[in-house]
Amino acid sequence: MMLVSVRVRRYSPPDYEGVLWIENVSFGRRDAHLYISYYAIQDYFLVAELDGEVVGYAVGSVLDTVGKVVSIAVHPMYRRCGIGKSLLKTLLDNLFRHVEIIRLEVRESNVPAYSLYERLGFRQTGFVPGYYPDGEGARIYELRRET
Ligand SMILES: CC(C)(COP(=O)(O)OP(=O)(O)OC[C@H]1O[C@@H](n2cnc3c(N)ncnc32)[C@H](O)[C@@H]1OP(=O)(O)O)[C@@H](O)C(=O)NCCC(=O)NCCS
Repeated sequence: MMLVSVRVRRYSPPDYEGVLWIENVSFGRRDAHLYISYYAIQDYFLVAELDGEVVGYAVGSVLDTVGKVVSIAVHPMYRRCGIGKSLLKTLLDNLFRHVEIIRLEVRESNVPAYSLYERLGFRQTGFVPGYYPDGEGARIYELRRET
């Protein structure tokens, strides 16, 4: 259920600090700024804005004929309000303008993330043991454009 009304739009440089905070608190990586530089060169870098504050982001790319969800995160205070779904839906709409299939990887333990992907129609198509540097496996998901 959508509990709050957010605006999803393209990232712009003034959003940097907001995204950095969400990235840090969501993934706890010391090199969060490098990830944001990487996001900024992808085909789609979207943010969700609520009352002028960045509360989430989603990143996607197009590689030949395949779209990819690179990353998505929502400010912890605003999770379970439909913001992730809203961001992902907008990202998928954008990617499906260019491709018929979208793929992604997700940590096997990341229940919120893979539940969100399944909620939007993604189906698990594979599993890669030890995919992540810490040894955790990845579930591979795929979604085809409805014809
Ligand atoms: C994954 C994430 C982006 C979801 O964002 P969100 O705004 O909380 O998600 P939504 O409120 O839009 O939830 C949509 C659906 O996803 C599923 N879902 C979301 N969080 C869930 C949880 N904690 N447990 C189970 N299912 C969950 C539900 O099906 C939910 O629908 P419902 O609320 O109607 O049951 C958020 O949990 C997050 O930022 N996690 C940390 C970053 C991360 O792991 N990103 C993904 C890897 S790149």
